[in-house]
Order: sequence, then C-alpha cells, then structure tokens
Amino acid sequence: MTDFVSNLTITMAVAFVALVGALFLFLVVVYIRDRTQKEDAIIRNFPVLGHFRDFFTYLGTFFRQYFFALDREEQPFNRAQRNWVDRASEGKNLTVPFGSTQNLRTPGTIFFVNSVFPAPDEPNEEPEPITFGADGPNPFTTQSFFNVSAMSYGSISKPAVQALSHGARRAGIWLNTGEGGISPYHLEGGADLIFQIGTANYGVRRSDGTLDTERLAVLSKQPEVKMIELKLSQGAKPGKGGILPAEKVTEEIAEIRTIPPHQASISPNAHPGVDSLETLIDHVTLIRQTAQLPIGIKLVMGETNWLDAFCKLIQERGLSQAPDFITLDSADGGTGAAPQSTMDHVGLPIFESLPLLVDTLNRHQLRERIKVIASGKLMTPSAIAWALAMGADCVNNARGFMFALGCIQSLQCNKNTCPTGVATHDEDLQKGLDPADKAQRVAQYAKNVRSEVAMIARACGVKDPRHLKRHHARMIIDDTRSASLADLFPDVTAE
Ligand SMILES: Cc1cc2nc3c(=O)[nH]c(=O)nc-3n(C[C@H](O)[C@H](O)[C@H](O)COP(=O)(O)O)c2cc1C
Repeated sequence: MTDFVSNLTITMAVAFVALVGALFLFLVVVYIRDRTQKEDAIIRNFPVLGHFRDFFTYLGTFFRQYFFALDREEQPFNRAQRNWVDRASEGKNLTVPFGSTQNLRTPGTIFFVNSVFPAPDEPNEEPEPITFGADGPNPFTTQSFFNVSAMSYGSISKPAVQALSHGARRAGIWLNTGEGGISPYHLEGGADLIFQIGTANYGVRRSDGTLDTERLAVLSKQPEVKMIELKLSQGAKPGKGGILPAEKVTEEIAEIRTIPPHQASISPNAHPGVDSLETLIDHVTLIRQTAQLPIGIKLVMGETNWLDAFCKLIQERGLSQAPDFITLDSADGGTGAAPQSTMDHVGLPIFESLPLLVDTLNRHQLRERIKVIASGKLMTPSAIAWALAMGADCVNNARGFMFALGCIQSLQCNKNTCPTGVATHDEDLQKGLDPADKAQRVAQYAKNVRSEVAMIARACGVKDPRHLKRHHARMIIDDTRSASLADLFPDVTAE
C-alpha cells in the first residue's frame, strides 16, 4: 500500500514537471515566433502577452452584450427591443413593470398623441384589406400590413426558411424570397410569396446573367407566388450587388441560383440593360407581361432628383406601366454581408426618405396607383405605427423575424458560424433551430405586432392602423420641445 502511494506520488510529480516543461517550451516557441514575425507590432513588442489583446477584444462583444451595455444602448438593436420581440414570439406577458426606460428627451424620439376618446377596444378586429395591381390580370389582396422582408435562402438556412414559410402562413402574412430564387423550403408552408428578382436574376437567370423570361413565366404560375419584386438596391449596400460568401454557397444553393458551388456569389450592382428611367419602366412592363402578376421595385433612396422625372414619365406612358408598389428600404437596413462603408454611410434613412417618397407620389397623383412598403429597423409596434402614419401602406421586416427565429445578434451572418442556426449551412449548428417550434414563434411575433399597432391606433382614436396620420405622432426636437409630424412633414396635395 505504502509502495503504491509513493509510486503514485512520483508519477504525479513527473507528470507535473513534464507539463510545466511543455508549457515553458511552448511559451519559448511563441516568444521567439512573436519576436521574429513582422506583421503585428503589438505582438512583436509584447510577445506572448500581446495575444490577449485580440482575445479580450473578441470576448468584449459578448461581455458588453450580457453584462455591461444598458437596455437602450446597443446597436443595431438594443436589449429592450430584442427582449420585446423575444417575449412577443414566446407569446409571453407583454407588459413591463414600474415605468419606461425610454428617454423622452432624446431628439428624434417619436411618441403618439392619444385621443381623449379612444376608438372602441375590438381586439379581434382584422385590419382593412389592401389590393396591389388592382387593374392588372391577377391583383393581390391582403389584410396584412406587417410582413417578412427579403432574406434569401443562402443568407439564411434551410430550417430558418422552413420556419418562416410555416409561420408566415399561420399569421396570414407574406414572405419575400430574397434574391436567391425560390427554394422548396419557401413553398413548404404555403404562405403568400413575393418572388424577388435581384440584379443577378438568380432562379430566373440565363447563362449570360440576363433574365430568362420563359423560366419566370413558369415560376410565376406557382399558386403561392403573388407578386414580383425587382430589387434595384437595398439599404445596407446601395450601389453594390448581393454578396454570399463562398462558405455559404452549397451545392443545393448553387443549383437553385444556377451558379457554381463553393465560390462567392456576387451580384452585379445593376440589372443588365436597366440604366435609365425608360429602360426601368420597360423592364417592369416586360416582367409584368411575363409573370402576369403585380410587380414592384425595391430601392434605398439616395439622390432624389430622378423621382419627379420617374413620376412624369409614368404619367406620359400611362398608369398601366407604373410599378404596382415601391419597397423603400432604409440606409440602416440589415443584410447577411455588406461593406461597412456602404452600411454606415450610403443612402438615406427611412425617417427622411419615406415622407419624401409619399409626398412625391401624392404630388403626381400616383399615391393610389403605387403602394408604398417601408422597411429598415421597423421591428417594434411603435416603429411600424410611425411608418403607417407617415404614409406607408405596409411594412416589411427582416431582423425582427430573425430574432423570432432565435437570432441573438452575434453578428456572424457573413461567416458560416451563426451559433443559432439561422444564418449558417453548418448542419451541426442548424440542429439547434427546430422549424416547427420557430414557426410558432414567427406567427406569434407577427400577431402580437399586429395587435399592439392596432392598440396604438385605437389610443389615437382611429379604428384601423392604416388610418394613422402624421398628426397622430410627434417627434422630440430638443430637450423640452416636440413637434407634430404633420408640421415637420406637411402633407402634400396633388398638383
Ligand atoms: C440575413 C439577411 C438577408 C437579406 N437578404 C436580402 C435579399 O436577398 N434581398 C433584399 O432585397 N434584401 C435582403 N435583406 C435586407 C432586408 O430585406 C431589408 O431590406 C432590411 O434588412 C431591412 O431592415 P430590417 O432588417 O431592419 O427589417 C436581407 C437582410 C438580412 C438581415
């Protein structure tokens, strides 16, 4: 027994010395490598210790999110906003205790002005319907004012698309396919689909990159496809085409997009042959005639002079050639992958571009003909109610639905490492995302948004969310004053 104990002690002592020796040797090798490398000045000047800087920078993102950032502090979405979507998706209690943490002195903050006589509480009342392309061959009528924005199969995963498809169907809202074509997973739940055609024409692409009209005619006949959206640009990367990193271009995604697998999928920044207002209207008309469906264009506003000329040209060529809708994206819209320069500094934010678009359409008597869909950080009921009050007919949202799918804002959509399975094609990571459970969350989020927007409308004295007007909201302009949106952005009447 004594021999056994002494042998064990000796073995442990030898193992310890070997471990310390190996560690020492490892640190010597790292030290020599750090001192001799030339790429990183910090590591060359502070060998071994310098590596902790990268490590702590990496960990900082998580520490800030969980421990240090205040509820209203983080970007792009703060904890208060994310928690609201989370609770709405769970179908949990949506009340909060004690008092608001929203600072009502920050310029730009919106608040609604409640009527002394609110509209009667009728929680089960459905929103009024809206019709797109009323004079076209297959108009599309929907009651939904809050829908799933474009996210391609490719930027998000198979179970994410499946959950969106089933959830959208259950909530009675539409799902935009994004620019990656229609996958079987988009069709699975039977939701209304908006088929997006991006600048690379994925899904309806000839080998030279131009639009394959025969293929478009076939795809448009699928009963789920209700409208077509021609994407000119999106908020996160105006003037830059879509980007899908090589790691995310699987064999299946490549086949749906008709491109080579395992190579980055970079769309051009414009549609082939569309380089003027005339050719844009020609292209819209060609797609409408081919698909026999309502068609709209998606863009982020930048310079604005073209808009008047566009409206005049539509009046000249006839209302039948007008796009049936314009989806207006905000400069701060989200994406799977974009250069930081365009994300941070190109395009107009929605709070400025939405009134500009609505007013210009009004001035040219096109407001009834061309519906307006707004998007970009319109994720919580107050933001959606603001967009409707400013004149939007509908709101699209992408990242709110990602949160409903379980996204934790880990900011890794441009890699293949999304820890929640939403934006990755790593099958191990996808296992965490159960499409059936997440479909339920998607539906509950949409329904709770709808009911809280209706609640804001009723507080303002109107029955339907689309009856909200600019005079129903005010914006903080400095520490002690606010102004009505009706005064800041006066309604424009037709010329
Ligand atoms: C993961 C992801 C993928 C996206 N893919 C597309 C796309 O294929 N086509 C497109 O027009 N917009 C795409 N978008 C942009 C959204 O449709 C929308 O314009 C923008 O995100 C609006 O901002 P929101 O996320 O705050 O709603 C994508 C956004 C995200 C987050």
